[in-house]
Amino acid sequence: MTSKPDKLITLDEYIIQAQNKFPGATGELSQLLRDIGLAAKIISREVNKAGITNLLGSDGSSNIHGESVKRLDLFADQQLISALDRSMITCMVISEENDGIVRLNSEGGKYIVYLDPLDGSSNIDVNVSIGSIFSIYMRQPRFDKKLVEEDALQPGTRQVAAGYVLYGSSTIMAYTTGLGVSAFTLDPSIGEFILSDDDFKIPKHGNIYSINEGSYNSWADGLKRYIKYCQVEDPDTGRPYTSRYIGSMVADLHRTLVKGGIFIYPASKRYPNGKLRLMYECNPLSMIIEQAGGKAIDGEKRIMEIQPESIHERVPIYIGSPDNVSMAAEFLAKYAMQEA
Ligand code: AHG
Ligand code: MN
Ligand code: MN
Repeated sequence: MTSKPDKLITLDEYIIQAQNKFPGATGELSQLLRDIGLAAKIISREVNKAGITNLLGSDGSSNIHGESVKRLDLFADQQLISALDRSMITCMVISEENDGIVRLNSEGGKYIVYLDPLDGSSNIDVNVSIGSIFSIYMRQPRFDKKLVEEDALQPGTRQVAAGYVLYGSSTIMAYTTGLGVSAFTLDPSIGEFILSDDDFKIPKHGNIYSINEGSYNSWADGLKRYIKYCQVEDPDTGRPYTSRYIGSMVADLHRTLVKGGIFIYPASKRYPNGKLRLMYECNPLSMIIEQAGGKAIDGEKRIMEIQPESIHERVPIYIGSPDNVSMAAEFLAKYAMQEA
């Protein structure tokens, strides 16, 4: 559910108009969002011709998470970091592809940016939708001190903006600064992101569940029972629900935003804390979904209220339409009590 804009407006125009509504704004956050928009256009261009420019396949190395690094992961990482570095307003970047913090040229810059430069890496080589995710914080005022990793350990409620770019059948950039969610579609013929959906709202209830069912045997009892509930026939509540799982969180979340339903990446034997990263996957997508009227929890607590202890930590996530997420939480609570 969205409101369609009645006139053509580019991402850059939209950002400036939004900034003008705040008379004291310095324009730095606007510049930062435009930098990300520019990097997204470059990444989108390369994604579209990756098969002919030797950008498919592995780089041969592994990242801090032990995952094989693809050439496009590194290309996207470099593009986003150099776009942020150019404008001298970001002091540090934390990225999935870098073990520690990345200090940028502007040590005094106000903003800290978290990046999942390329989300859905396993889908790169098979021409399935992939994305980029970003999350923006303000550096806390301790300018006397050297910039350290702890400066970046802020809960998701402190995000000043967050968003994603989806390189799908079209390229879409969606972001929020805490005043609703806006989405822009890239028109490749003019190289501009054009506003396509203003004030995105997620359906209150949806008929799609999205989870990698391969780990079913090691899930908590409450989750097993919730997924069975989704599969039981009950026309009054639209069940059985449809199962959809792309394997790129950005793509699964974009579908969830548009059509409603629930996306889950739970704790399992292989991933006791879930697989997805709190700071550059779960928090930014939680901010988007909450701004659209949805919910995001770790099974119990709100994702955005978790106090991070390290920059690459993982967390289980249940995210999507408010009714679906609340129902999943009820199952988890009920059967956790019985297990105890
Ligand atoms: P990334 O490519 O940035 O490492 O993220 C991959 C993530 C996420 O996009 C997706 O939801 C999930 O991994 C899929 O994991 P499974 O293959 O375990 O389902
Ligand atoms: Mn990812
Ligand atoms: Mn990634």
